[in-house]
Amino acid sequence: MKFEYAPAPESTSIVNIKSKNDLFIDNEFISSKKGSRFITINPATEEVLAEITAATDDDVDLAVTAARKAFKSWAKLAGAERAKYLFRIARIIQDRAREIAVLETLNNGKPIRESRDVDIPLVAAHFFHYAGWADKLEYAGLGSNPKPHGVVGQIIPWNFPMLMLAWKIAPALAAGNTVVLKPAETTSLTALLFAEICQQADLPPGVVNIVTGAGDTGRAIVNHPDVNKIAFTGSTEVGRFIAQSIAGTKKKLTLELGGKAANIVFDDAPLDQTIEGIVNGIFFNQGHVCCAGSRLLVQESIHDELLSLLYQRLELLRVGDPLDKNTDVGAINSAAQLVKIQELAASGEAEGANRWSSSCQLPANGFWFPPTVFTNVSQSHRIAREEIFGPVLSVLTFRTPDEAIAKANNTPYGLSAGVWTEKGSRILEVTSKLKAGVVWANTFNKFDPTSPFGGYKESGYGREGGRQGLTAYLFAGENE
Ligand code: NAI
Ligand code: MG
Repeated sequence: MKFEYAPAPESTSIVNIKSKNDLFIDNEFISSKKGSRFITINPATEEVLAEITAATDDDVDLAVTAARKAFKSWAKLAGAERAKYLFRIARIIQDRAREIAVLETLNNGKPIRESRDVDIPLVAAHFFHYAGWADKLEYAGLGSNPKPHGVVGQIIPWNFPMLMLAWKIAPALAAGNTVVLKPAETTSLTALLFAEICQQADLPPGVVNIVTGAGDTGRAIVNHPDVNKIAFTGSTEVGRFIAQSIAGTKKKLTLELGGKAANIVFDDAPLDQTIEGIVNGIFFNQGHVCCAGSRLLVQESIHDELLSLLYQRLELLRVGDPLDKNTDVGAINSAAQLVKIQELAASGEAEGANRWSSSCQLPANGFWFPPTVFTNVSQSHRIAREEIFGPVLSVLTFRTPDEAIAKANNTPYGLSAGVWTEKGSRILEVTSKLKAGVVWANTFNKFDPTSPFGGYKESGYGREGGRQGLTAYLFAGENE
C-alpha cells in the first residue's frame, strides 16, 4: 500500500551560492586570466545555479606551483600536527553538514535523504579516519619511514562529489602530500565550499588547491611535469587514456573506474531483506554508482516470486524533487547521462529483453528516468555487459552455484559483487570465487572509511579507504 505524504521540502536558505566562481589556489579564490566560464545547473529543474571557471593550463601550472611550494613544509610537519588540521576539517564538515548536503543535492540531483544521511556523514568519517593515521604512518606497512609522493593531481566524478573529494584528499594530506583537485564539471559547487572550509580550518596555503573545469583541465593536471601522482575516479575510457598519457613517466597512478556488479540471489535467501538489498544496490543514487548491483543473478526456482515482490516494492519508490525529505530516487545528473541511459535501455528492448518500468510520474523539467527492470536478459546483451550508470536493473538467472559464479565473473569489470543466502558455507565458497574488489554478503553498498575499495581488471587498480588507501599516497623510505 502506498501512503501519500504531504511535500516536505528541505529549505535552501542555508546555502549561499556565488553567481561567479573562481579557482582556489594558494589559499585564495583567484580569477583565471584567460579561462572562460561555464554554467552549472540544478539537474532536477534545469535552473542555472552559478558560473564556474574553466581553468587553463596556466591556471593548473599556478596551482601545481603552489602545491609544490607548500609540500616542503607540509611533508616535514609532525604527523600529529597534520592530524590537527584534518580533525579540524572533519569537525567543520560536521558543523556545516546540512549546508553541504543541501548544496550537494542542488547541484547533483541526489535525494537529500542520501546526501544528508549517507554522503556527508561518510565525508566527515573519512577525514576523522585519516586524521587518526597521520601520526601513525610507520604502521602503514611500508617500513618505519614512509614518505609522501609530493604533489598529487586528483580528478573526481559527479556521482558522489564530496565523498570522492574526501576519499582523495583525506589520505593524501594525512600522508604529507599536497593536492590539486579537479571536481567534475557538472558538480563543482561542494568542492568550492570545501575550499572555504580549508580557509576556515587555517590550512596552510597551497596544501589544497581546487581547479574547476572539464576534460581539458583534467588533461592539464595529468600532463603537468611537476605532478608526482594521479588519482582518478571516472569512466574506464578516460582512465585508459590517463594510463597511456603517463606511461613512461615516473608518475604514480591509481584508477577507480566502472563496474557491472553481479548481485547473486540463492533460493534460500531471506526474500524481504533481499528485496531491500536489490533496491539499495541499483536504485541508490539513481544507479550512478560504480559498484552498483546492476546485474541481478537469480536462482531460477525463485525468479517469478522475487520479481513480483520487486515490482511491488519499486512501485513504492518516490521519484521526484530531490530536496523533498520523502524522496527515494532523484534526478539524473546531466542531459548527457540521461541520453546514455535512454540509449542503453532502448538497446535492451531491441535485443529482446523484457522491460518493466515504474508507473511513477516524472517531473516536467529536469532529467529523469523511472526505475526500470529488464528480464529475459542474456549475457550477450549490451545491458548485461555495459555500465548503464542509471536506475536500470538487468536480471539473469542461474541453476547452480557454479553457473552463478561463472556468469558473475563473465565481465571485463571487477569492482564489486553481492551474495544473498542463508548458508554461511555458501557465502564463504561463493565470495572467495568472485573476482571483485568488494563482495558484500546479505547486504549491499555498505561503505566505511576503514575498508579498502577498488577493482580488478577494467575496474582499475589501487585501493582507496583504510590502510590500503593510505599506502597509495606513500612509498617506503630508507629505514631509520
Ligand atoms: P568521465 O570519466 O569523462 O569524467 C570523470 C572526470 O574525469 C571528470 O572530472 C572529467 O572532467 C574528467 N575528465 C574527462 N576527460 C578527461 C581527460 N581526458 N583527462 C583528465 N580528466 C578528464 O566520465 P563521464 O563522461 O562523466 O561519464 C561517462 C561514464 O563513465 C558514465 O556513464 C559511467 O558509466 C562512467 N563513470 C564512472 C564513474 C565511477 O564512479 N567509476 C564516475 C563517473 C562516470
Ligand atoms: Mg566523459
